Amino acid sequence: MTDRAAIVTGASSGIGLAVARMLATEGHAVTLVARRREKLEAAYEALRADGLAVQRVAADVGDEDDVVRAVSAHRDAYGRLDVLVNNAGLGIAAPIGELNTKRMDIQLNTNLRSIPLFYRESVAMLTAAGAEHGNALVVNTASIAGKQGQAWLSIYSATKFGIVGFTEAMNKELGGLGIKSTALCPAWVDTPMTDFVKRRVPPEAMIQTSDIVASVRMLLSLSPGCVVPEIVFQAPTGGALT
Ligand SMILES: NC(=O)c1ccc[n+]([C@@H]2O[C@H](COP(=O)([O-])OP(=O)(O)OC[C@H]3O[C@@H](n4cnc5c(N)ncnc54)[C@H](OP(=O)(O)O)[C@@H]3O)[C@@H](O)[C@H]2O)c1
Repeated sequence: MTDRAAIVTGASSGIGLAVARMLATEGHAVTLVARRREKLEAAYEALRADGLAVQRVAADVGDEDDVVRAVSAHRDAYGRLDVLVNNAGLGIAAPIGELNTKRMDIQLNTNLRSIPLFYRESVAMLTAAGAEHGNALVVNTASIAGKQGQAWLSIYSATKFGIVGFTEAMNKELGGLGIKSTALCPAWVDTPMTDFVKRRVPPEAMIQTSDIVASVRMLLSLSPGCVVPEIVFQAPTGGALT
């Protein structure tokens, strides 16, 4: 069995891919989860080409059966789970008067509902890791929109506020088992998700995926008695998205 293992959702792009690469480079066997097969395959091949221990599971985290299948594939391959990164997410902007129920449900299911499902399926493995070293870690990617409600991104904001609250509850419920949870709350990060805004906000002025990676590395280095429940990443001039 491997010494350390991790699951990263949304691992085919942006923040998830950068965090998965760091975890694999630092000795974790990593299950990469994302929805679109082609993108996931490209990420998987790139990590494998660098000699990293990864497997990929194409899954829609908004689908309960897919979540069960992804965690089960991880358990079968690696037999343990030290780090769970619930990162898959998307935002669909719309004024509230034009709210589309299907688009709302996609955001609720992908960004928020998926996270308790991943905890439920993973908690036995996380508990075993927590008992072994007191530092099982769950990182939940929220957003600055989970700290400050954003106009026209109201559903996205609601999902991200939900993640922050759920993360707090998980620390109260699982902290005593050596399972620590952290919500990451960044403003604009230079990833494909922010391509639409890059003519107005230059990518080099945004938070970098390396900043998110540095924060996860820091979380992994903490002693068993220390939990960081959330980290807010903002532009030097303030916390707004722009
Ligand atoms: N970039 C920012 O400015 C920013 C700021 C704050 C928070 N965030 C959050 O950071 C997280 C990662 O975003 P990113 O910026 O790295 O975006 P990204 O480059 O677009 O990556 C998003 C990842 O999530 C996956 N994904 C989306 N829906 C999925 C689903 N239903 N099932 C499985 N995988 C799914 C995508 O895979 P597929 O393409 O296969 O669907 C992709 O791997 C998101 O939760 C986002 O809300 C981003």
